[in-house]
Amino acid sequence: MPLFCDGIFFICYFLLSFFCWIFATMLPKIIITIDGFSSCGKSTLAKQLAKKLNYTYIDSGAMYRAITLYFLRNNIDWTKEKEIHTALQNISFEFLPNELSGNTEIYLNGENVEYIIRDLVVAEKVSEIAALPEVRTFAVAAQQKIGKNKGIVMDGRDIGTTVFPNAELKIFMIADEAVRVERRFSEMFKKNPNVTLDEIKNNLALRDYIDSNREVSPLRKADDAIELDNTHLTEKQQLDFALRLVKKVCEPV
Ligand code: DC
Repeated sequence: MPLFCDGIFFICYFLLSFFCWIFATMLPKIIITIDGFSSCGKSTLAKQLAKKLNYTYIDSGAMYRAITLYFLRNNIDWTKEKEIHTALQNISFEFLPNELSGNTEIYLNGENVEYIIRDLVVAEKVSEIAALPEVRTFAVAAQQKIGKNKGIVMDGRDIGTTVFPNAELKIFMIADEAVRVERRFSEMFKKNPNVTLDEIKNNLALRDYIDSNREVSPLRKADDAIELDNTHLTEKQQLDFALRLVKKVCEPV
């Protein structure tokens, strides 16, 4: 009898998952952009949303981090336009799925750099490099190419304003500064127990400032973006909120 019940349960679970998958694939594929300040939880939401919808998740910040890593490793003098130009010609990105996590990870010239680009050494320079006009033109072109077939969730700072101004759904995430610092600190502390709360706080403040005040596509909320303040939300609550928005956009009225 228990074996019979297990069998029924398994079949029901399989059928339900199958119909959810069919339903998700039948909906028109759209572009979902998620912008906001550092450590607002953009990537957490974007990854979960992509999994639920069977979309590809693209972390645009990872591209700027990978470019920064390349510049640092190769001693590129980014005050010299010619050096930047030559360096960018030698950079190629790929986003490939990690079979274990189900998330996409970034490859820089064939090397998986998903984890190394999260180091504080890279974080300290990335906003400065992401503000360089030639770097932005290069990264934006790569992002637009990836989005050609839709069915993507991309997070960043200018995705709803510059990269995909016509995206079907734009979310702008915000959260209280203290919460953001705490989140980033616990993430970084796992990798480096010597990191201090002050270091994280200063790094976030500096990046927020540079990201919002740079000349080329500064961080700002697109006029048609929907604001999501997740200071007091659980991951599930923010995912449900976003899924309701997707439903509204995709389902015929
Ligand atoms: O999301 P993140 O912290 O990994 O982003 C790293 C840096 O890249 C961030 O400080 C600003 C920059 N960035 C950007 O300028 N535009 C984007 N679309 C994404 C990130």
